[in-house]
Amino acid sequence: MLVSLAAVILSRLALAAQAQSLSDNSRAACAVIQQALGSTIVQSSGAEYNATAEGTWSLFNALDQPTCIVYPQRAADVQIAMKNIYHFNAEYAVRAGGHSAMIGWNSVTDGVLISFEQMSNVSYDPATDIVSLEPGVRFGDAETVLEQYGVSIIGGRASDIGTGLLLGGGINFMSPLYGWSADRMKEMDVVLVTGELVTASATNEYADLFRALKGGANRFGIVTQYRVYPAHTGTRDDKLWFGGSVQYPGSSSLALLNATAHYIRDVTNPNAGAIMIINTANLTSPTSNTLFFFYKGDSLPWSIFGEFLCIPSTSQSLSPLSYFDITFLIAGNTRVNGNQFGASAWVGDDAAFLNGFNHLLNFTQNFGTRLVEASMIVSPIPLSQWEASLSGPNAIGNPGVSYGAINWDIVYPAGETERPQDIDDGVKLLISQTPPSPGLPLYVNECDASQDVFATYPDYPALKAAYAKYDRTRFNVEYTEGPKGL
Ligand SMILES: Cc1cc2nc3c(=O)[nH]c(=O)nc-3n(C[C@H](O)[C@H](O)[C@H](O)COP(=O)(O)OP(=O)(O)OC[C@H]3O[C@@H](n4cnc5c(N)ncnc54)[C@H](O)[C@@H]3O)c2cc1C
Ligand SMILES: *[C@@H]1O[C@H](CO)[C@@H](O)[C@H](O)[C@H]1NC(C)=O
Ligand SMILES: *[C@@H]1O[C@H](CO)[C@@H](O)[C@H](O)[C@H]1NC(C)=O
Ligand SMILES: *[C@@H]1O[C@H](CO)[C@@H](O)[C@H](O)[C@H]1NC(C)=O
Ligand SMILES: *[C@@H]1O[C@H](CO)[C@@H](O)[C@H](O)[C@H]1NC(C)=O
Ligand SMILES: *[C@@H]1O[C@H](CO)[C@@H](O)[C@H](O)[C@H]1NC(C)=O
Repeated sequence: MLVSLAAVILSRLALAAQAQSLSDNSRAACAVIQQALGSTIVQSSGAEYNATAEGTWSLFNALDQPTCIVYPQRAADVQIAMKNIYHFNAEYAVRAGGHSAMIGWNSVTDGVLISFEQMSNVSYDPATDIVSLEPGVRFGDAETVLEQYGVSIIGGRASDIGTGLLLGGGINFMSPLYGWSADRMKEMDVVLVTGELVTASATNEYADLFRALKGGANRFGIVTQYRVYPAHTGTRDDKLWFGGSVQYPGSSSLALLNATAHYIRDVTNPNAGAIMIINTANLTSPTSNTLFFFYKGDSLPWSIFGEFLCIPSTSQSLSPLSYFDITFLIAGNTRVNGNQFGASAWVGDDAAFLNGFNHLLNFTQNFGTRLVEASMIVSPIPLSQWEASLSGPNAIGNPGVSYGAINWDIVYPAGETERPQDIDDGVKLLISQTPPSPGLPLYVNECDASQDVFATYPDYPALKAAYAKYDRTRFNVEYTEGPKGL
């Protein structure tokens, strides 16, 4: 009893000492970085600091108070920041669009936050057909700059999302045709943990780093510039697609699940795109399901979408659309709720989808009245999505079979600043009850932080080898939050 009490006190003291030294470390790093870069680029208080600190998409990350926020204007600023973070053993986090749903992956207290809002240039060079993107740009803003040239970045499906998406892989409505967003990368300028700046591409001496960055999330360095092969999608007036959203009542959920499993199993036409949002919360309001369907052509072919279109819907909004129109169909910019994700991945098998849905229903029966949303979001990943890569394999690795990437999307009530333990336990139970089909990779941008996503990548050893090579002292995994497994 006494011994265990002493042990508790000792470990508390050790924790306090560690916290003390972490805040000392970050204060020392901030002081030196500010001396080098000035008080506009490095801030510890004030309106801009507050707006950034509070500016995350998930409210759970908006309460962190970084020791300082660095607003780099060029790669050299990131190098100075990173060198000192490394030198002083300071905790740190990096922010682009701020949409991470994982606690602490884009925010930090007692640490240095590097936030890219001052680096958001986008440019297109028609001579080389390459788009240059700074990390602070959001996909909607990039589209607004680029559509006049008839080109686009393949980014996310919500206009507010930032470039952090590219480091996790990146799923677009048009990914069956244009590939994972990251697979359109030509090269990236990257600041390694030591502060060294390198350019990585599929063909240079940093090809292993390049591959690791395409799915390795925030673990392999800080990207200061992306050079991307754009997709030639036309201008805002070129209505090359047909589609939009269809709303279905909760009573259609089981039929929609079957149709989704069949779509994943059978559809190989890369001109088709879809997402299925099956929302079971909250129980006091009617369940509603929103599905988005697209086809590069002038209608939705019955042979692809017929099973869905036969299911009774409550409303439809389907029309000819340009890629520009599609970019802005979903904004995704609400910033009042705490959020939690979870990931799975299933082949197109009715039973897997039914199992997942039933466990989600049980979750909702227990917690739905305390949540704004509890959804199962399905992104079909056909084989063509891997075959479209313009820059070799990514870190995730083609499992050789079409599947659906599953995102459990939990939205807590506005203003609720902490995740209730029982609901968090419920999410973890849901995740454990709905594992991926054998051999399928999880999607790191849509996971819960507790999930060992990298271990599901078909070529996990290559990712680990690249990590060991580019972060010899394992600084990143020790000093910043992010995916585990390296
Ligand atoms: C509303 C919504 C819709 C979404 N839709 C899609 C979708 O359609 N397709 C899809 O694939 N995903 C989607 N996601 C998931 C999305 O891919 C991730 O949330 C993504 O990480 C967000 O990137 P960000 O730049 O906005 O966020 P951030 O939180 O700023 O960044 C995400 C992660 O990347 C790291 N990071 C960012 N920039 C850099 C950099 N330059 N160098 C090193 N590390 C960096 C951050 O540290 C953080 O860990 C969606 C998420 C939300 C909330
Ligand atoms: C920033 O927020 C803090 C509270 O977190 C507040 O005390 C301070 O007045 C704010 N500063 C400005 C300039 O808004
Ligand atoms: C970003 O664009 C502005 C205006 O076009 C330019 O002045 C600035 O140098 C650019 N920054 C970088 C890093 O290219
Ligand atoms: C879904 O498919 C299963 C067979 O896989 C069938 O038993 C069930 O009736 C179908 N449900 C609906 C609503 O279509
Ligand atoms: C659930 O929906 C009802 C009806 O729309 C709403 O009044 C209630 O606030 C919602 N609950 C939560 C937790 O959002
Ligand atoms: C239903 O969810 C509750 C709360 O997470 C859990 O305790 C219970 O075991 C679940 N039941 C089943 C059958 O999974």
